[in-house]
Amino acid sequence: MTVKTVLVTGGAGYIGTHTMVELLTSGYDVVCLDNFSNSSPEAVKRVEKIAGKRVTSVTGDVRDREVMSRVFKRPIDGVIHFAALKAVGESVAKPTDYYGNNVGGSLALLEAMNERKVRRIVFSSSATVYGVPETLPLSEDAPVRPINPYGHTKAMVEQILRDWCAADLTCTAIVLRYFNPIGAHPSGTIGEDPHDVPNNLFPFIAQVAIGKRDKLTIWGGDWETPDGTGVRDYLHVVDLARGHVDALRYGFENTGYRNINLGTGQGTSVLQMVAAFERAASKKISFAIGPRRAGDVAACWADGSSAQQLLGWRAAMSVEQACVDGWRWQQQNPDGYRGQRTAG
Ligand code: NAD
Ligand code: UD1
Repeated sequence: MTVKTVLVTGGAGYIGTHTMVELLTSGYDVVCLDNFSNSSPEAVKRVEKIAGKRVTSVTGDVRDREVMSRVFKRPIDGVIHFAALKAVGESVAKPTDYYGNNVGGSLALLEAMNERKVRRIVFSSSATVYGVPETLPLSEDAPVRPINPYGHTKAMVEQILRDWCAADLTCTAIVLRYFNPIGAHPSGTIGEDPHDVPNNLFPFIAQVAIGKRDKLTIWGGDWETPDGTGVRDYLHVVDLARGHVDALRYGFENTGYRNINLGTGQGTSVLQMVAAFERAASKKISFAIGPRRAGDVAACWADGSSAQQLLGWRAAMSVEQACVDGWRWQQQNPDGYRGQRTAG
């Protein structure tokens, strides 16, 4: 069997690095394209070290047509498209940056794929496209009603991919709607590396545990949930990464457009997450209950049956395991990739 080559845009980022490890260890060759706007070349080196295989790393922007035509000079069998901006609050303040990068970047990528007749793409979408859930669990046929520019960029790219597949029946787009990825690779050498104050719960807790932040503010203790704090579907990033390998394989065997949720189907509250992290780190996490955060919902979790039926994928790792692995990454890399403690 010939080895397939996968282009991974945004491969140096949090989910991209974990996915590149799983691709390499599953026998794929990987070309990583990243502009390092939210990541570091060190991350790619660590991927190579974990997998014991080289990545072809290209520094550049998906919107740069010259870079893209250079990337596609080599034979590419399929693409996993992670490259995007992802902070909800920032997307409200700088919508044109988000539409430009996330939608414009996806269009530039598809144009380059069209030129070279590359017809397989796996796209990083998000559960954020569902907006405020009407019923739980969320299945893929729930209405798409994003409530912020970031969510709109994801919904727009979904529509573009739907149309792209309708125009050419040999094309495949597998759109993965992730719930809440957390944790890190069990080696402790790759993980999430937020450059500013983390918006998301998990990295914030990790930074309280390591002493970088005094305490967690829990956004609301009066939600309609069993303990009053927000409930989400947290999945281990290694499970998520494996889901991409399964989606890619499915994409090579099938044509057409598919939306697939990737989540565990289980809800965990903020207080439950704090307790799980405390057990993993053997440390107390200080917290205070604050006001609700604008745009938040009480609860959100996935109906993961499509992933199981179509991809044969289900989350195998627990929130506890994610806390253990996330804490290992945080301890070994208190300053993320800038510290470079575990490199070499
Ligand atoms: P990340 O910021 O760690 O990774 C994104 C990578 O893309 C970074 O390495 C960044 O440098 C790169 N990048 C951004 N714009 C680029 C461009 N124009 N050209 C080339 N490279 C570019 O984010 P992540 O958490 O790994 O997320 C990956 C994808 O998954 C994103 O599309 C994100 O919207 C989506 N997603 C993430 C989450 C989450 O909670 N992390 C949830 C749902 C969906
Ligand atoms: C956020 C994004 C969503 C994105 C998802 C995964 C918003 C409004 N939504 O969703 O678009 O797809 O991340 O990246 O930003 N919490 C605290 N204190 C904190 C941080 C979070 O109590 O300091 C609570 C939140 O209120 C929520 C839960 O923890 O109940 C999870 O928050 P977060 O990690 O930001 O994820 P989402 O809210 O699901």
